[in-house]
Amino acid sequence: MKRLTVITVVVLSLLLSSAIVFSMVEIREENGIKKVIIKPDIKGDKTRGGGGAKASGYTIIGWNDLGMHCISPRFKEMAILPPYNTLMVQVIQKGNPPRIVTTGITVEYALLNNKTVSGKTDFWQYVKDLFGIDLPEGMGLTGNGLSGKMQPAGDHFEATGIPALPYDDTMKWNPYQKAIVTLKDKNGKVIDTTEVVIPVSDEMHCEKCHASGGVAAKGINTPTVEGNILTLHDQKNGTNLMAQRPVLCAECHSSNALGTQGQQGVPSLSRAMHGKHATLGSNAPGCYDCHPGPVTQCNRSAIEEMGPSSKGPNCEKCHGNLLQMADSLNQGRQPWIEEPSCANCHKSYSTGQNLYRNSKGHGGIYCATCHNSPHAWWPSRNSDDNYQPIKLQGKAEAIGKCSVCHTNNPSGKIH
Ligand code: HEC
Ligand code: HEC
Ligand code: HEC
Ligand code: HEC
Ligand code: HEC
Ligand code: HEC
Ligand code: HEC
Repeated sequence: MKRLTVITVVVLSLLLSSAIVFSMVEIREENGIKKVIIKPDIKGDKTRGGGGAKASGYTIIGWNDLGMHCISPRFKEMAILPPYNTLMVQVIQKGNPPRIVTTGITVEYALLNNKTVSGKTDFWQYVKDLFGIDLPEGMGLTGNGLSGKMQPAGDHFEATGIPALPYDDTMKWNPYQKAIVTLKDKNGKVIDTTEVVIPVSDEMHCEKCHASGGVAAKGINTPTVEGNILTLHDQKNGTNLMAQRPVLCAECHSSNALGTQGQQGVPSLSRAMHGKHATLGSNAPGCYDCHPGPVTQCNRSAIEEMGPSSKGPNCEKCHGNLLQMADSLNQGRQPWIEEPSCANCHKSYSTGQNLYRNSKGHGGIYCATCHNSPHAWWPSRNSDDNYQPIKLQGKAEAIGKCSVCHTNNPSGKIH
């Protein structure tokens, strides 16, 4: 089969995150509005990193561009998404006024207890077949590894395409890996550090229906779930994917996550997947059957009404259900590029035509610098997400303490 020779990876990752620690969360009712409060004394936080922040004269805050990156569990037969996390950091030189800086300092990252990819995935065995490029084991699609130097990019630093996997070096599965981010001065002296969650999950439950004997494998019985899916695809669409393994879905179905154009006349991967599965009536999957997932729980904000509800992950509240997702795509919505906006519900907080993750507010600070990654908006239900606001201002809420950046006592508001 014709392989892609070049792939521009733009952004990838499916989603979000989730809920592990609730014990420190308190729900309080003020003027009839329920508020979620996470208590500052989350264990371990005081003993880690930090400390030097006040003395350093700098504030460093990082986030993953997406609240969750989803990867295929195996690549031998088919690939939906490869390993690809993007870490973003803003450095603010404290002062009156404070300044966003990218010169005179360097920023490095290293995944914690996660120095090797060895034995964790078969991605590097098939990357040439799938993406048309030779990559040494451990190197991601844009040349970055599990540790390295972050690149200045205008008003922030970034490391794109980090090939993070949801296993640490003891092979413990954890979809919330952490990066230690280190700020150094021009002589290489460490000024400050922070810890950022690098969310990545391979939790996909296609097997629920596509395993042999499942509702979506009638008369199909190959040795693997992937084989069953490819066989079904071949039967329904006259393709010959079984003979072309490993198959990159986005080679024919365009994906803005991968920057692939796909084939003329073939629906985008988002439209094909949501559209087809929306037509299945009582067999239709839920969001967590494909997006990670009942264990990972990528939607993990503890803000009431924005995180999960008692009934489930609550994705529909902002994205609509499968049918509505499919409709919006049929009507021309660009997958990955046109997403829900804060202003849908918070009228005066518009990000215009921009995605939340690319938007800036107060003083040129990114929304995500103060509010965190999508779906992990502070406070998060995962205590590791809350490390930074607790370190900087003693509580897991949006960064709102003026002295985190200003050395005077400014008047006015952030918004
Ligand atoms: C809750 C059940 C369920 C889950 C979970 C599920 N599917 Fe399906 N899927 C179906 C059913 C039912 C069909 C239709 C089968 C048929 O037409 O015989 C289908 C059809 C498909 C098709 C064929 C579409 C066509 O007609 O050309 C593909 C490809 C597919 N699924 C991929 C996946 C992948 C990949 C996953 C996991 C990321 C997944 N599905 C998860 C139930 C499911
Ligand atoms: C060689 C090209 C090719 C590859 C690779 C490919 N597909 Fe397809 N796919 C097609 C074509 C062609 C159709 C039929 C489109 C149509 O009928 O409009 C289709 C249809 C589908 C449909 C049904 C859409 C619908 O609305 O009925 C789904 C779902 C789907 N593909 C998922 C996948 C997944 C998942 C993968 C990766 C495992 C994949 N495809 C890989 C070419 C491809
Ligand atoms: C059958 C599997 C499946 C189910 C069920 C599913 N998704 Fe997806 N979703 C995918 C795949 C695969 C992609 C990646 C497509 C790509 O790479 O472009 C995706 C991408 C997305 C995207 C980004 C692309 C876009 O269209 O903007 C959003 C948002 C999304 N899904 C939301 C949802 C929500 C909300 C639900 C539940 C209502 C849901 N998905 C259910 C498989 C699924
Ligand atoms: C409170 C609203 C809200 C809820 C609930 C929500 N999302 Fe989102 N989602 C958004 C917003 C806003 C964006 C756009 C983020 C951006 O612009 O950077 C987004 C983006 C996405 C994307 C594109 C990639 C990314 O992370 O930016 C996917 C995929 C997605 N959501 C899936 C889901 C799934 C699956 C669920 C449920 C588990 C869910 N969302 C729940 C608001 C929500
Ligand atoms: C589907 C509607 C919806 C969307 C979309 C949405 N929110 Fe919310 N948000 C709410 C609701 C409801 C509340 C709780 C009531 C309130 O405080 O306004 C809330 C509360 C908040 C709070 C806590 C306010 C406080 O004082 O406790 C923050 C911060 C917030 N949202 C930020 C965001 C950001 C950032 C976005 C865009 C990425 C966003 N919201 C998108 C519905 C939404
Ligand atoms: C310098 C830090 C900072 C920046 C930058 C920032 N915010 Fe906020 N934002 C806050 C704080 C602090 C609050 C109050 C949160 C609370 O009450 O828990 C807030 C509240 C909000 C709320 C909730 C309002 C409500 O209903 O109570 C929304 C929505 C919001 N911000 C959206 C955005 C968007 C969109 C951007 C980027 C365009 C942004 N913020 C940039 C710090 C910031
Ligand atoms: C995350 C860092 C950050 C936080 C937190 C923050 N600011 Fe700022 N603020 C900035 C930056 C950066 C500028 C832009 C300075 C410039 O170049 O003019 C700025 C500018 C301002 C300005 C206009 C310029 C000046 O200094 O007179 C005011 C007023 C201001 N902030 C008030 C506040 C107040 C009040 C708070 C707390 C409620 C706050 N800020 C919290 C980073 C921050």
